[in-house]
Order: sequence, then structure tokens, then C-alpha cells
Amino acid sequence: MDGMGKREVEVSSSTRQEAQASIDGLYRSAWTLSALTIALERGIIAALSAPASAAELASRQGLSADLVSSVLDVLAAANLVTTEGDRYAAAPGFGELAQSEFLLADLRATLGANRELIVAAQTRNQVIGGWRTSDPIAVEAQGTVSTFVTRRLITEIFPALDGLDARLRADGAAALDVGAGAAGIPITLCRHYPRLRVVAIEPATSAMAIARRRVGDAELSDRIELREHTGEAISDHAAYDFIYIAQMFFPEAAVDGAFGAAVRALKPGGYLVTGAACSPGAGLVEAVSRLRSVAWSGAVRSAAEVMSRLTAAGLSEVRPGPAYGALQWIVGRRSA
Ligand SMILES: C[S@@+](CC[C@H](N)C(=O)[O-])C[C@H]1O[C@@H](n2cnc3c(N)ncnc32)[C@H](O)[C@@H]1O
Repeated sequence: MDGMGKREVEVSSSTRQEAQASIDGLYRSAWTLSALTIALERGIIAALSAPASAAELASRQGLSADLVSSVLDVLAAANLVTTEGDRYAAAPGFGELAQSEFLLADLRATLGANRELIVAAQTRNQVIGGWRTSDPIAVEAQGTVSTFVTRRLITEIFPALDGLDARLRADGAAALDVGAGAAGIPITLCRHYPRLRVVAIEPATSAMAIARRRVGDAELSDRIELREHTGEAISDHAAYDFIYIAQMFFPEAAVDGAFGAAVRALKPGGYLVTGAACSPGAGLVEAVSRLRSVAWSGAVRSAAEVMSRLTAAGLSEVRPGPAYGALQWIVGRRSA
């Protein structure tokens, strides 16, 4: 008997069954996530504002009744959809969540990042992890997620940053978004602060093309300047009242250079905000946050590490802000 066969015999049958049951549960989760995505992508949930049968929904949405019923049966088993006879309805909480653009954007971004990781793993000699911009749906979706995140930034973080709101409303107000992706942050900031001008730095040409289209669609091309280069190459000095830096998507080698350049680019008394999206700890939530961090940046950088590297880059008053899900905000200021 070879070594592998011997190990198999030694594994107790209950352990093996438990492992198989866990894996079966993961398969069901994967299929359920697909059902959720299909239902949102094809407007099935939006069409469920009033109870309807699979046949009615199918003809309304131009889909097959078998597809609609199988998707909705999975969602019903997951308690997201209720059934009465042959009619389906969105469960109240889910109906509310599904109305927001956030849910579908978050699904697209999450599935896109997972696909990139898996494709890299299946491609010999390819580095696994690090943000990639080859999937325009995921890039744009991350921009939509950023829109929601920025609204929270404005309502939950800015009020605690002394004088920032007034600075961003003043004539000559300027902000910098480093790692702007699809420009969700500059667009949301400009809509909230009517006098603000934003410079958006993004090194990826494909993401930049999406950002340019979105900024144009938002009619903000005169207030948002898009620059295609890395954060390390920022050469502005004392130019911005506020800087956001998406360090959780930066490769390790870029971080200190980008932090240093960003700190130099802050006006005296200006604020810098970033986030750390991974947590220490043995639980699945924390472990997944670290895997996602590797998917986004190729590395795991804790909030404590990010804060000490920002301090080393010359930022003052560096401290943790509130947490938003797995995202730990970090704020700092350039001394006046
Ligand atoms: C995914 S975006 C964050 C989401 C973004 N706020 C939006 O609205 O789409 C982060 C970006 O950081 C960019 N990035 C990676 N390395 C960078 C670096 N060294 N300097 C600046 N940006 C970088 C990536 O290309 C990516 O587009």
C-alpha cells in the first residue's frame, strides 16, 4: 500500500464524513450565491415587489420558468424569499436590501475577486493575489461599493475630524484620491461638497477608462482631474485638505512610497484617511478578511501595521476611527 492509501485508512470514517459534509455545505453556499446573483442581475427580485409565480416572472423577465423557479427555490430555502402556493415574494428584509445598488455591486466585486484568485491558482507560475483590473464588471462594481463607503465616511468619520467639513466647503478646497479605481470616491465627494475639486490617481489604464466614463456621466469632468500614475509618483506638495488612500489594494512594495508622497501632498492641518480591511483572530470572519486582503493587495496588513507605517511616513495624530464591517478606518493629520 502506498503512503497516500495508508493515510486514507487511518482517517476515521466519521472524520471523513464530517469533512465531506462541510464541503457539501460549501458547494451549497456557492450555488446559493449564484442564485442570488442571477436573481439580482436579471431583475427577478425587483419584479417580486408583488407576489408572483415563476411562470409570470419568467415571461415578464424573458427567462425560462425552470430557471426562475430553481433560482427562487434556492433563495426560499435560504430564507430570502417566501412562498405561498405557487407564488413567491421577497422576504421583507431581503426585499429592502435588494433595492439598494450596494448588494449587487458587492456581489459582483466579491465574485470577480474570487474568480481572479482561482484563475491565478489554476495558472502555473502565476502569483496568486493582488488587485487586477482585467474584469471591467468587478472594477466598476468596486467603484459603486466605494460610493456607499464614501457616504459613510462623510457621515460617520468627517464630523469627528475637527475643521475638515468647513475646509471641504471652502473656496479652493482640494482633495486627492490615491488608488481611485472607478472614481466612486471623487464623484461622491464632489456631489456632497459643491466647491471641492478632486485629483484622482490611478495607475491602471483599464480602470482609468471606466473612471473617465463615470466622471463624464456624472458631469464632473471640470472638477475631477484624473491622473494615470502610481501613488508613489505623486509630486504635489502641501496641496490637499483631504487625502484618501486605498492602501488595502496596494502591493506591499508601493505602500511606504505612496504614504510618504501622500503625507507631503497634504496641506498643513489636512487630514488623511485610509482603511485596513483585515483583522487578526482565528474565526472564519477574520480569516476570510485576511484572504480577501491577499486577493486585494497580495498581502495582509493589519490596522496596527498601517498606523505605524503612516506615522513613520510623517503623519501626525494617527489613530483608529470606527470600524465598518471588516473595514477599520484609520485617520491622521499633517501637523499645522
Ligand atoms: C479597487 S480601487 C478602490 C475602489 C475605488 N475607490 C473605486 O471607486 O473604484 C483601488 C485601486 O488602487 C490601485 N492601485 C494599486 N496600486 C497602486 C499604487 N501603487 N498607487 C496608486 N494606486 C494603486 C488599483 O489599480 C485599484 O484600481
